[in-house]
Amino acid sequence: MDAMLPPLLLVGCGNMGGAMLDGWLKEGLAPSFIIDRHRPSVPAPHHLVRSADEVPDSFHPGMIVLATKPQKVDAVMTAIAPFALRAPVLSVLAGRRAGDLTDCLTDALPAGSPMPLVIRAMPNTPSSVGQGMSVCYAPPAATAAQRALCTRLLRAVGDVAWIEHEDEMDAVTAISGSGPAYVFLLAELLEEAGIAEGLPPDLARQIARQTVAGAGALMVRSGVDAATLRRNVTSPGGTTQKALDVLMAPDAWPATLSAAIRAAARRSRELSGALPVS
Ligand SMILES: NC(=O)c1ccc[n+]([C@@H]2O[C@H](COP(=O)([O-])OP(=O)(O)OC[C@H]3O[C@@H](n4cnc5c(N)ncnc54)[C@H](OP(=O)(O)O)[C@@H]3O)[C@@H](O)[C@H]2O)c1
Repeated sequence: MDAMLPPLLLVGCGNMGGAMLDGWLKEGLAPSFIIDRHRPSVPAPHHLVRSADEVPDSFHPGMIVLATKPQKVDAVMTAIAPFALRAPVLSVLAGRRAGDLTDCLTDALPAGSPMPLVIRAMPNTPSSVGQGMSVCYAPPAATAAQRALCTRLLRAVGDVAWIEHEDEMDAVTAISGSGPAYVFLLAELLEEAGIAEGLPPDLARQIARQTVAGAGALMVRSGVDAATLRRNVTSPGGTTQKALDVLMAPDAWPATLSAAIRAAARRSRELSGALPVS
């Protein structure tokens, strides 16, 4: 069995921070500090504090994890900067570049301090059931051990991949970060379409939800590519073919989905300051 995860300083424990914490607690986590204004409790021997100022100076985290909303992180930088001299920072904030966060921490430290290291990750909400997808980016200064620790932390809540160019994080955010919302929308629309076709609402909901869940599970467990699985359901001239003729028309899903992903990726670039807000 792997050794326990090192002590963490988790800053923000809402949807995403809480999902990750659940995975880490299951894996076994050395006594850690969790900063959050709303979470009711954390199990012993971990410590829940309401403000970053309450973390004792003597605490030596193995990693600091930033999981506040992107616009709220600046308020905690001064308080956590001293800890960033002892441990790398893993940020899951959408649209905040590693260099930008490093600069914020550096500004909060005495002149001449070593430069803090910030690694970025984009997880998603299925992390709360151990089925997340996290994509990480580390600046060249990160060591193999620091990368391996990030992989281990995020593997506790799902699958992990690395990118070598931070610019790719905008497309990753648009696909896997925001993507669960598109899949939930598909379930909503299937349910509405079922009701419109005359099905009882409960049945429409049950078959829509289980179809989305079952198709995802089949894709993962079979390891077969999505296009082959789609063809396996599609008899020439049959019912599925008729629906796919509508959905796969060039101006239907192919155009709509690529426009949606472009819009989300553009918003991620705007949030990171790489593009002016339109
Ligand atoms: N949710 C997703 O699907 C998803 C996916 C990928 C990445 N992310 C990233 O994950 C981050 C967190 O998102 P989320 O959905 O988990 O947000 P969230 O539910 O609002 O959680 C953030 C928590 O941090 C607390 N907090 C913020 N500043 C604090 C402070 N100074 N002291 C104490 N507590 C503080 C917040 O309290 P207040 O509400 O009082 O500020 C809140 O409880 C975001 O940066 C987002 O970009 C989210």
